[in-house]
Amino acid sequence: MASDQQLSTKHVLGIKYLQAADLELILDTGREFKEVINRPIKKVPSLRDTTVANLFFENSTRTRISFELAEKRLSADTVNFSAASSSVKKGETLLDTVNNILAMKVDMVVMRHPAPGAHHFLAQKIDASIVNAGDGTHEHPTQALLDAFSMRDALGGELRGKNICIFGDITHSRVALSNIFCLQKLGAKVRVCGPPTLIPKHIGKLGVDVSYDVEDSLAWCDVANVLRIQLERQDTRFIPSLREYNRHFGITTERVNQLDKPIVIMHPGPINRGVEIDTAVADSEHSIILEQVENGVAVRMAVLYLLAARRQEKG
Ligand code: CP
Repeated sequence: MASDQQLSTKHVLGIKYLQAADLELILDTGREFKEVINRPIKKVPSLRDTTVANLFFENSTRTRISFELAEKRLSADTVNFSAASSSVKKGETLLDTVNNILAMKVDMVVMRHPAPGAHHFLAQKIDASIVNAGDGTHEHPTQALLDAFSMRDALGGELRGKNICIFGDITHSRVALSNIFCLQKLGAKVRVCGPPTLIPKHIGKLGVDVSYDVEDSLAWCDVANVLRIQLERQDTRFIPSLREYNRHFGITTERVNQLDKPIVIMHPGPINRGVEIDTAVADSEHSIILEQVENGVAVRMAVLYLLAARRQEKG
């Protein structure tokens, strides 16, 4: 990689703590790695002397596999930890678990944890660089970065001045908050749209538009980023039924077909088909859902590479 620029931070704990220049650097570096992973030989030696621990205290398909692939493509040594099959089940604390793993000489930690702020707590206690792979309903920074990367690809360039609407369950989504911070830092206009019960009351203070009108929001936006209804995080009923939700707030075939302009449809996954988005829309020519997954590997390679470069520079 040619750039001699560096990230301003030792960790990637959230988009909130990254500067616009950090985001640009990650996205530009990701572009170079996308070219690498499309070559016949997809591997580079950049992280040959680096060991990364992937600590997943919550379920994941995309993020976990994407980080593992990114690490392998960079030639890092990796160890994988899943809380479900670990001594966490015997009562071991987060700090004890991590310190035991770090005693095996680990340089970087990629962690998903259900507690918002778990990564901030660890960052104060350990020397390894930490990447947040999702902390409860708080942030999912690498998802926002791969989303921004994919939007740029789909729109043919900059996001400045573009209209991006995030649809769905905003209250329970870590993707929503990271997307809002990331898109605003890149100059896009951001709107959230969903039922009032699934949009935080004071979210307007973040500088986003709020709409409860799905048709108007689809007509307004260049990109619709559709989030799933997170039933597992809801201890009360926020919507009467999934069918009602689809009828009033779903990104349905009928609503998309009514548009007389292009639109890009995204979803971070996993998808509840027939609830927040119709199958025909998720699989349509408007959808870049699988491109998001592909781009995730390149963007995560960029994050790991830049953090490792900063560690080396700082000794
Ligand atoms: N988008 C996302 O975070 O998916 P997983 O939960 O499968 O990692």
